Amino acid sequence: MAIMNNKIFFALILLIVVSLWSCSLVSSQLFNKVYIENSLGPNNTLTVHCKSKDNDLGEHNIDFHQSYNWSFKNSFGTLFWCRIWWYDHHHLVWLNNDMFDVRLASRDCVDDGIDKYMHCIRRAQWDGIYFSHWNGSFTKMYDWIRE
Ligand SMILES: *[C@@H]1O[C@H](CO)[C@@H](O)[C@H](O)[C@H]1NC(C)=O
Ligand SMILES: *[C@@H]1O[C@H](CO)[C@@H](O)[C@H](O)[C@H]1NC(C)=O
Ligand SMILES: *[C@@H]1O[C@H](CO)[C@@H](O)[C@H](O)[C@H]1NC(C)=O
Repeated sequence: MAIMNNKIFFALILLIVVSLWSCSLVSSQLFNKVYIENSLGPNNTLTVHCKSKDNDLGEHNIDFHQSYNWSFKNSFGTLFWCRIWWYDHHHLVWLNNDMFDVRLASRDCVDDGIDKYMHCIRRAQWDGIYFSHWNGSFTKMYDWIRE
């Protein structure tokens, strides 16, 4: 009986250690804030519709030089994807891709050390969507689909 309890106790400790270790790989912060910025140019309105498995954030219009953000607690497997579109001279321009993946948060989000958030900036430009990285640089992650 005592041996059995020891085994269970050991398994529990192992589980706790492994889960703490995997959390620290994912992100150094407890919360994330995702920003979608419109850097398309004057008079171009961007529309976004983001979802996770559990949440539908609805449609939001973002004017040029404005941004939209939402925040959420870190949890295992969190993924947000967005349908994002605008009109380039009346032609639909769109994409439907992941904007936040908790497994990539430590690469694609910035910990500014000021608050409890990882800041994940996604910038819409005429040629595609750019993501912020941990080191402050931006790279293009997705091209638009042009109708
Ligand atoms: C944006 O729209 C305003 C009002 O419709 C217009 O006066 C302005 O010239 C437009 N700017 C550009 C860059 O198209
Ligand atoms: C984030 O969005 C909230 C509304 O949900 C707004 O009040 C706040 O100003 C936004 N923050 C930034 C930095 O854009
Ligand atoms: C910043 O990090 C990203 C992702 O890890 C990498 O692709 C990029 O080359 C880095 N940029 C600089 C200037 O180090």
